[in-house]
Amino acid sequence: MHSDLPLALFVLLCSLSIVASIPTWEGMNGRSSIGSLIPGASNIRALGPAISQTMPQHLTVHVPGQLGNLTISPENVGPPLFFQTPPLFYINRNKLWLLVNETTVFPVNIRNMTGTHDLPMQLVLGKKTEGITYGSWRWQTTMLYYDVPGGRSNDGIYYLCRTESGLQNIFMTTVPSPTPPGCGITTLHSFIRAGMKDRRRTL
Ligand SMILES: *[C@@H]1O[C@H](CO)[C@@H](O)[C@H](O)[C@H]1NC(C)=O
Ligand SMILES: *[C@@H]1O[C@H](CO)[C@@H](O)[C@H](O)[C@H]1NC(C)=O
Ligand SMILES: *[C@@H]1O[C@H](CO)[C@@H](O)[C@H](O)[C@H]1NC(C)=O
Repeated sequence: MHSDLPLALFVLLCSLSIVASIPTWEGMNGRSSIGSLIPGASNIRALGPAISQTMPQHLTVHVPGQLGNLTISPENVGPPLFFQTPPLFYINRNKLWLLVNETTVFPVNIRNMTGTHDLPMQLVLGKKTEGITYGSWRWQTTMLYYDVPGGRSNDGIYYLCRTESGLQNIFMTTVPSPTPPGCGITTLHSFIRAGMKDRRRTL
């Protein structure tokens, strides 16, 4: 029957557009399957005095599936508490990326906060690379570092600071400075790297 074909096509197109319109990566958490897309991709765990030890906390965004400031949030521990599954990150060409799926990655950008915040750099997930780009991300054993030309580095130290939204956001500096009021210190780790003997070739 001729009329069936257009209907089938219409239904197919509808279902495709519905799938494509869901702006989320939280459903993508077959960690092993997505992780295997890029060797070395892993979630990033926060450790330190500012971090609750009650349950693991990971680098992520405030709203699952949406771009914006990065923060630290507890892992999905199942009922009765539901949190987002921590996203996967990897370093490529000295830049840090969040891996969404087979076709999409987002850059972790550094927003210039000079004159706006006590700490001059803020971590923000963006659609395209922007902000401060002169430095490079690297792993040293399990720890994440940001180095800038001239031999300076954030020394692997990140600051979790409450901003006017009331939420905690992540800042850093490559100039040694005291911890500003309202901020706590953390380090960021990829434990997938603990088992690696050699530095992996970056992709
Ligand atoms: C990958 O994620 C992006 C952003 O969420 C989405 O637009 C796209 O449809 C997804 N692609 C696949 C193959 O799932
Ligand atoms: C950051 O902002 C300050 C103040 O606006 C400016 O002087 C400086 O050049 C900026 N740095 C970068 C790398 O954009
Ligand atoms: C994101 O960071 C900016 C500072 O760069 C801050 O003003 C804003 O409140 C933050 N947003 C959230 C949701 O915390």
